[in-house]
Parts: sequence; C-alpha cells; structure tokens
Amino acid sequence: MSNIYGVDIGTSNFKMCNKEKGTILNEKNIIAIANKTELLAFGDEAYEMYEKAPENIEVTYPVKFGVIADIENMQTLLLSFFNKINEDKKAGGNTDFYIAVPTDITEVEKRAFYELVADSKIKAKNIYIVDKPVADAIGAGLDVTKSKGIMVVNIGAQTTEISVLSLGGIVISKSIKIGGDRLDENIISTVRKEYNLIIGNKTAEGLKKDLGSAVKSDEKFAPGFGRNVLSGLPVSVQISSDVIFSAITDPLHQIMDAVKMILERTPPELAADIIKDGIYVSGGTSNISNIEGFIKQETNLNVNVVENPSESVVRGLINVMNKPEFEKIAYVPEDKNYD
Ligand SMILES: Nc1ncnc2c1ncn2[C@@H]1O[C@H](COP(=O)(O)OP(=O)(O)OP(=O)(O)O)[C@@H](O)[C@H]1O
Ligand SMILES: [Mg+2]
Repeated sequence: MSNIYGVDIGTSNFKMCNKEKGTILNEKNIIAIANKTELLAFGDEAYEMYEKAPENIEVTYPVKFGVIADIENMQTLLLSFFNKINEDKKAGGNTDFYIAVPTDITEVEKRAFYELVADSKIKAKNIYIVDKPVADAIGAGLDVTKSKGIMVVNIGAQTTEISVLSLGGIVISKSIKIGGDRLDENIISTVRKEYNLIIGNKTAEGLKKDLGSAVKSDEKFAPGFGRNVLSGLPVSVQISSDVIFSAITDPLHQIMDAVKMILERTPPELAADIIKDGIYVSGGTSNISNIEGFIKQETNLNVNVVENPSESVVRGLINVMNKPEFEKIAYVPEDKNYD
C-alpha cells in the first residue's frame, strides 16, 4: 500500500482514502472523551454514545459549519483515523497528504486545514491542497480541466457549497450554512408542535431518511420515539410524512434561492454549458428522496445526483492522485508557513 492519503474533513463525516487501497474510510467525525482527557472512542463508535453519555463523558464534533472549531480534538481524530486505515499495514516511509479544503471560507480557516496535517504526529512529507468543489466534480466523473462550465452543489450536514468551475479552477463559489442538520432541527421543532413530542437528533435524522421527500408525495408513517411534553413520559407516536415535508421544505427552498443567485451571476457562456449538462448535486443530503425532481422544478435545469454523494469529494481526491491529467489540480499553499 502506498503512503499517499486523501482527506475530506466534513462537519458530520470524516472521509479518508489511500492512493492504492480501494476502500474509503467514512465515519462520523466525532470524539468521546472521558474525564476531560481520556480518549474513549472516535468515529462511528463515539457516535453510538452521542446523546446517551453520562456527564463525565463528552461527545463532540470538532468541525462546525465546515471549518475546524476544535483543533486539539481534530488532531486526535485525524491520527486515530489514520491509524485505523493503516491497521493492516506496517508503518514507515514518507507520507503525503491531499486535503480537500472549502473555498468560501477565510484564509485563516483554510490555513487551519493545512496546519492540522502539518502539525500532526503523522509527519507528512508533502501536503497538497485541493479545492473541495474541484475534487467533488472529479469525483462525479467529470473532466474539470476543459474550458467548459460545470455547476456543483454539495449539500452536506451544516453547509451547502455551490460552485461553478471551468478549466480546473473555480469561477464562483458560495457556501451557505444550511444542510442536513438544519432539516433535522426543523423536524425536532415541528414534531414537538404537531405531536407534543420531544425527540432527539438521531430520531429526527432517522425520520428524515425514512419519511423525508423534497417534493410532496403520498402520505406514509413511521414511528417516532420520544417524550411527551405534557405527561413527561416516553412514548412512540406514528409520524406522518406530511409533517416531515412541512418541516424540511423551508431550508430546501433556501438552498434553491442560493443556487438561483449563483446561476444569475454565472457568465453566459458557462451558463450555456450548465444548461446542456445539468447541475451536479452531491453531499449526503442529496440522498433525500426526490431531490432531483425538486431542483429541476425550481431551476428548470437538468439535475444529476452523484452516486454515493457523501463520498464524491474523497473519490475525486483518489483520481487527483492517480490521473496525470489532474496533476495540476493539487497545489502547495504559496507560503507554506503562512507567516
Ligand atoms: N438517506 C438520506 N436522506 C437524507 N439525508 C441524508 C441521507 N443520508 C445522509 N444524509 C445526511 O447527509 C448529511 C451528511 O452528509 P455529508 O457526509 O456530505 O456531510 P459532511 O461532509 O460531513 O458535512 P459538511 O459538508 O457540511 O461539512 C447528514 O446531514 C445526513 O443526515
Ligand atoms: Mg462535506
């Protein structure tokens, strides 16, 4: 196995790949710390403890709205995931890293991604940055190096990044702080209002996956487990997909408003290409039912939802590492030390 790795450090999920190893590590980007200092669990195992842990155990997400908020815990997670992906391999040799970094953030926030890896115990020799929307488009199977306009909309957990690309670079990119988590929050408040039922984040996410649809569809039901507001007792209530639809429709429309704004700002020749090829949609939240029809209805454009959309960015990194035509896509920050 080679010593070249790629990472897409998401708000909800941490994705890592190795140049030669075919599989992708995709786990919850979450850490469980006991008694303030002991690493108890990380990734999916820590997520099991989320909202269930006693007071001495802190279960937290170190990335907020797509940027690193808690460097120390993110360092621990990076190293833990790195060791996990290398479980079956002897350590040694020079290690290179490709990091997918969001575009519409400050220079200081971008620097934090680079320094996370640079300051890690992994001691990487070469560290390259790849603009996240570019990696995303490559992961969708597109040749971004041509003089052709490509629109990518990545709907993640706490951000939606909308970008127009051409010639391997970014023409416009805008990130808004709305993603799947906002849908979950709205489900929690709507279920409380409609059913007097208090539910947790995991239940809300489960209802979103089971019953959520971006366009109104036939009513169906699923059980929601929670606590009744009035009696205070735990109960199970049959939740209607109509209620879930009414909870999630506003944030989905807000995402569409941002997409339309970017389309309005897209130079006409690139817009012509987007009309021909359609919009590419990725990110875990694009798994929601009928997203394709919804975006089509809102924009009058064709829509391609990328396969396995949560992993599109990291799949793109694998291609950047392996394909000579993408050699120039990865770059080293101009001033490595940024000081
Ligand atoms: N089947 C599904 N239906 C609806 N939403 C889903 C589904 N599967 C995953 N999601 C949502 O996708 C989101 C995670 O997507 P993704 O892994 O792209 O986010 P991230 O990269 O961690 O976040 P960000 O890009 O905002 O930093 C979560 O909000 C999750 O609830
Ligand atoms: Mg993401």
